[in-house]
Amino acid sequence: MYDVEVGLDPAFTVGTVDPRLYGSFVEHMGRCVYGGIFEPDHPTADEHGFRGDVADLVRELGVTVIRYPGGNFVSGYRWEDGVGPVADRPRRLDLAWRSLEPNTVGTDEFCRWARGVGVDPIMAVNLGTRGVDAAVDLLEYTNFAPGSTSTADRRVANGHKDAHGVTTWCLGNEMDGLWQIGHKTADEYGRLAAETARAMRRADPDLELVACGSSNSGMPTFGSWERTVLEHTYDLVDHISLHAYFEPVGGDVDSFLASSEEMRRMITAIAATADHVGAVRRSGKRLTISFDEWNVWYQHRFSGQDTLERNENAPLIEDVYDVTDAVVVGDLLMALLDHCDRVSIACQAQLVNVIAPIMTQAGGPAWRQTIFHPFALTARHARGTVLRTAVRTAQLPTQRYGDVPATRVSAVQDPETGALTLLAANRNRTEPARLTVPLRAFGERLRLVEHLAIAETDPSATNTAEHPDRVVPRPANGTVLDGDQTLTATLPPSSWHLIRLGN
Ligand code: AHR
Repeated sequence: MYDVEVGLDPAFTVGTVDPRLYGSFVEHMGRCVYGGIFEPDHPTADEHGFRGDVADLVRELGVTVIRYPGGNFVSGYRWEDGVGPVADRPRRLDLAWRSLEPNTVGTDEFCRWARGVGVDPIMAVNLGTRGVDAAVDLLEYTNFAPGSTSTADRRVANGHKDAHGVTTWCLGNEMDGLWQIGHKTADEYGRLAAETARAMRRADPDLELVACGSSNSGMPTFGSWERTVLEHTYDLVDHISLHAYFEPVGGDVDSFLASSEEMRRMITAIAATADHVGAVRRSGKRLTISFDEWNVWYQHRFSGQDTLERNENAPLIEDVYDVTDAVVVGDLLMALLDHCDRVSIACQAQLVNVIAPIMTQAGGPAWRQTIFHPFALTARHARGTVLRTAVRTAQLPTQRYGDVPATRVSAVQDPETGALTLLAANRNRTEPARLTVPLRAFGERLRLVEHLAIAETDPSATNTAEHPDRVVPRPANGTVLDGDQTLTATLPPSSWHLIRLGN
């Protein structure tokens, strides 16, 4: 057992949580759209063919925004293929995943579904094989009022009178990656992104635009890519994107449990890079980060896009997550919260079946993977103001990141009710932690509402169609808030926690 002491004061804050931190991502890839959110023959399907059981789980997950339609897919996508009478839509080769895209679901269907499950769509435009024209046309089609332009009236003629009202747009996807259809150098992409942004802003000055940052921190151009791209786009965009996927490389689980250290470093480095470009320009503007793809992804099990057989929506990268993965996902969410002053959007990739918190069987059930639970609990309760935490804890040696805190703790307070949510991850695989949090600084008496933990004696336990609730958050034993307003709790090895305190 080792001790973790947390210093916390409501006067010392990081910032306000943008609800878009609880975003997700739907790509036309594998069984995310077809067989995921959309399955017309499923017993729970609605009149538009979307699964009702999946929609219920999406609502329960608490997702606020969903990025669409890719991902690598968007870089070869012709959005016009996905609108109009379904019978007339072409079947196209999707070069990103070597799939056949039937175009049964497109912009109108996705936006209507997203609104129906209570989320705001975030759209990405194709800056791989296309450019300014297609982006502005899509913007007009999606957002313009009936009668304003012929492109907007195409939407109306297609049965969607109301504009979809998409306010946030991604200028391409992972354009730094050699695997990207239409990959570009930073200068080439920066120029195209700037011209696309300028044109889109002429059509609608109030949009929020995201420029592509690095695909991961291992890219040879990490940092310099962002600098060059922002030299072209700084005044025209609001956010720079980051992507990161984590796995136990070479079986190194200790480093894997500390994955959020890497996410934290990425955020700090790219915020500094953006600020450098701003400083050189003497700009008063401060960009934020859209961490619009993040998750655990066992990439070593995926041999790469080039090896894929041409397929028709065959399953792709359907990772089954265990308890350790859930602890890592919970810890990654804490990293995003702790940087809420610089991260305004984050999208867990993806939503259904493809490296996803929700899994489905064709014609059968939908269920929650282990990683569903930390996301749902955090999205529901970690709203409001993130507080600064001073954490005294043992260090954990890792091969990848050196010595890291063995336990991480984050704190979020609801400014209206004063309710306090503590999140904690014990990354030590063998030793429990004794957590102590003095809460006298909060003035009013707090009371312990609940302490839920993802903590199993078998860290490899998973949820499956047959045993969908093998891993769930369970009430923790022995947590006490004493008369002195000091909270004490035990955090078992490799565990994630949500502790709620109210007035
Ligand atoms: O989410 C899977 C893929 O990962 C996305 O299409 C791409 O953007 C990233 O490389």
